[in-house]
Amino acid sequence: MKKPPVNEIKLVLPAIPENESVARGCISQFASKADPTVTELADIRCAVSEAVTNCVVHAYKNEKGSVYINARLYGDGRLTVRIADRGCGIPDVELAMTPLYTTDSGGERSGMGFAIMQTFCDRIKVRSTVGRGTVVFMEKRLGR
Ligand SMILES: Nc1ncnc2c1ncn2[C@@H]1O[C@H](COP(=O)(O)OP(=O)(O)OP(=O)(O)O)[C@@H](O)[C@H]1O
Ligand SMILES: [Mg+2]
Repeated sequence: MKKPPVNEIKLVLPAIPENESVARGCISQFASKADPTVTELADIRCAVSEAVTNCVVHAYKNEKGSVYINARLYGDGRLTVRIADRGCGIPDVELAMTPLYTTDSGGERSGMGFAIMQTFCDRIKVRSTVGRGTVVFMEKRLGR
């Protein structure tokens, strides 16, 4: 049977740029209880930032909306972070996850957000429905 988490937090934040650092700070504080290395913590901070930024800029296209975050720590040092939005959704997740793929035409984005999340986590899963929203699930083992 699956063991329950030893700790868990849930956050609902307005999808505004200011909350990229709020989310990053909260998750990093939460994860620090698992004795992560400096690198592991930096990886988590970076992956969370990318996912939350995507909610702000893509899901809601700078319009009103919320980011729903759930983080869990397990006894074996595993951290899971689920970052969800109820925004526009992604028509083709596989394509969206291709490095350098971006729908941004302003030249501000480099299409590397998902690639960064993949590199910095042990596992990432993305589920999305057009018109309903997106869920990004990340897992990383800390303090090895
Ligand atoms: N939460 C989301 N809702 C809707 N579309 C998304 C979401 N997250 C990502 N996307 C789509 O997937 C594409 C790729 O995302 P990714 O984070 O890899 O790159 P980017 O955001 O375009 O650029 P970068 O992250 O390098 O600034 C985006 O351009 C966007 O079209
Ligand atoms: Mg991005």
